[in-house]
Amino acid sequence: MKSIKEADVKNKTVLLRVDFNVPLKNGEVADDSRIRASLPTIEYLRKKEAKIILISHLGRPDGKVTDELRLLPCAKRLEKLLKQQVLYQPDCIGSDVEEAANTMHTADVLLLENLRFYPQEEANDTSFASKLANLADIYCNDAFGTAHRAHASVDAVTTFLPSYAGFLLEKEVRMLSKLAAPKKPFIIIMGGAKVSDKINVINKLMQKTDALLIGGAMAFTFLKALGNETGKSKVELDKINLARTLLKKYKKKIVLPVDITLDNKKAVSVQHILKKSAGLDIGPLTSAIYAEIIKKAKTIFWNGPVGLFEKKPFDKGTKTIALAIASSKALSIIGGGDTLAAIRQFKLENKYTHASTGGGASLEFLEGKKLPGIKALEKS
Ligand code: 3PG
Repeated sequence: MKSIKEADVKNKTVLLRVDFNVPLKNGEVADDSRIRASLPTIEYLRKKEAKIILISHLGRPDGKVTDELRLLPCAKRLEKLLKQQVLYQPDCIGSDVEEAANTMHTADVLLLENLRFYPQEEANDTSFASKLANLADIYCNDAFGTAHRAHASVDAVTTFLPSYAGFLLEKEVRMLSKLAAPKKPFIIIMGGAKVSDKINVINKLMQKTDALLIGGAMAFTFLKALGNETGKSKVELDKINLARTLLKKYKKKIVLPVDITLDNKKAVSVQHILKKSAGLDIGPLTSAIYAEIIKKAKTIFWNGPVGLFEKKPFDKGTKTIALAIASSKALSIIGGGDTLAAIRQFKLENKYTHASTGGGASLEFLEGKKLPGIKALEKS
């Protein structure tokens, strides 16, 4: 990958792909970790007198304009962080956007609307990519969190413009490469809400890790596969067979919760989950067992909160894990938008070797996959 440092950006328009897929609450950015992570590249480009057009997705609007997933709150937050006006367009292609791009001055920052309002983005559509590319002279990808998606603004766009990696992308690759030959014991903790994305990578990861501690929504698919009642907890029915196969194959390595905190705030053993209740966190016994395992690890990779950390008291499990990793001397890499939000909530941001902005992306990187976003930059 060529670094953005190698590009002559003075007076040029740079199309900068960022990952502003951040949690929102009441129409405002609830956690701006991913926005802050993109500041070094934006500030560098401003200093070098480029015109900066930011593009990003937010959530999964499935190709439809969805008002709750507009990027305006991100523009406002970025404005505060940069202490400079951030221009915003409520679309990402079209004549208004072209005019806005053509009238930019050096060091201006313009944020375009959610790319995923167009189905062509996820379809990696060339004509959509060329419309984005036509707005600029140079393309820079700093969206590590989206590097595992072969989407138009990540992949196809690189065929139209000289393409470079931003500082965040470079740093992520450098830091995550430290996991290529991990010191043992190597422990992975996996949680979060995007179960189907993550369960598919487990098979590959199991060959690298000594233990996989499971929490979050994913735990219920595994508990169901073992025949437990899971009540109203989130279970991916189409992944139960896969969970069963994984449990058979890696019996000794996969560690599941022994107790769960239910939506009525009571902790029960996994054999006693109520039909009318949903599990919202790992229980205190599980938290203690996981913390003990973490203590013995020499390398730790944590991806996804183990409970509904945004809502007390369901933050307890995630907090115990976050604290256990923070007080360990192991090389620790944590990843994902929600995990970043969780450690910020607990004020533990600087306690890890690396806090990755990538959730799915960091998992697939760890799995050893060449990420489409990185491949595209290397090819360009
Ligand atoms: C993420 O949050 O992992 C990235 O922004 C990618 O989002 P996606 O899983 O909706 O593609």
